[in-house]
Amino acid sequence: MSWDTVRLEWNDDETVATLIVDRPDALNALDVATLEAMGEAIETAAEEDARALVLTGAGDAFIAGADIGYMRDLSTEEAQAWGELGHDVADALEAFPAPTIAAVNGYAFGGGCEMALACDLRVAGESAVIGNTEVDLGIIPGWGATQRLPRLVGDETARRMIFLGERLDADSAAEAGLVGEVVPDGNLEDVVAELAERIAAQPAFAVQSAKRALNRRYESTQPAGLEYEKQAFAGLFGTADQREGMTAFLDDRDPEFE
Ligand code: COA
Repeated sequence: MSWDTVRLEWNDDETVATLIVDRPDALNALDVATLEAMGEAIETAAEEDARALVLTGAGDAFIAGADIGYMRDLSTEEAQAWGELGHDVADALEAFPAPTIAAVNGYAFGGGCEMALACDLRVAGESAVIGNTEVDLGIIPGWGATQRLPRLVGDETARRMIFLGERLDADSAAEAGLVGEVVPDGNLEDVVAELAERIAAQPAFAVQSAKRALNRRYESTQPAGLEYEKQAFAGLFGTADQREGMTAFLDDRDPEFE
């Protein structure tokens, strides 16, 4: 199945679905239509009983983030709806009945990193670069990273990464615990396909039950944290730093923050 900027492909025995964000001219940055299509593709894969779901990007990038051109002029109310949409897709990945794997094949910044964080597992190609870079744009991570990043890398590292907008190369990301495995770029697709097929060959009921149980660990405090994050994210739209950060990116110059 395909949408304008998203494709859903299946392996031969239709046990593993692969969701490909296919907007390579913008390094797969996520706009409204792409996020909506991702949501539909995830729902389709669940309805068709995928036993594993892979998320990746077309071309040389995973997802270079949320679409900055779209975000720049959002009002607080618009940013609230935008934040909700991104959260819905990340939540759908996290709640996907079967395991999900992010095949990080290049840049994974901001919202792209957050989509990878919402997956169960992450495998990176050796040239991947990963980080929550939102503060550099005068905003904060708005699709879950304030809650999901620390649980992978620990609180100290997450704070450093977010405060400094750090962009980690694949080996540093693995060292930090942000990805589980780094493989040569040319092997990424095969390694992830093999991992997904091994998971798909496991007893589905047990794997899915294990996933639900593992996810329970975070449910008591995470919803409140995510709710807080949504409000804080939207509240930054319209600030001078947000407008300047995004305008500077679009003008290809260094930002001058207040
Ligand atoms: N939103 C919108 N467009 C984006 C984008 C984003 N997050 N990331 C990249 N693009 C676009 C660029 O504007 C450019 O479009 P153009 O060819 O029409 O000018 C195209 O993708 C290629 O990007 P470019 O910056 O020219 O490539 P590069 O190889 O020099 O740098 C990055 C790649 C990823 C390092 C750089 O694009 C970048 O830093 N992107 C922003 C990352 C970010 O802050 N993401 C967080 C958003 S929440």
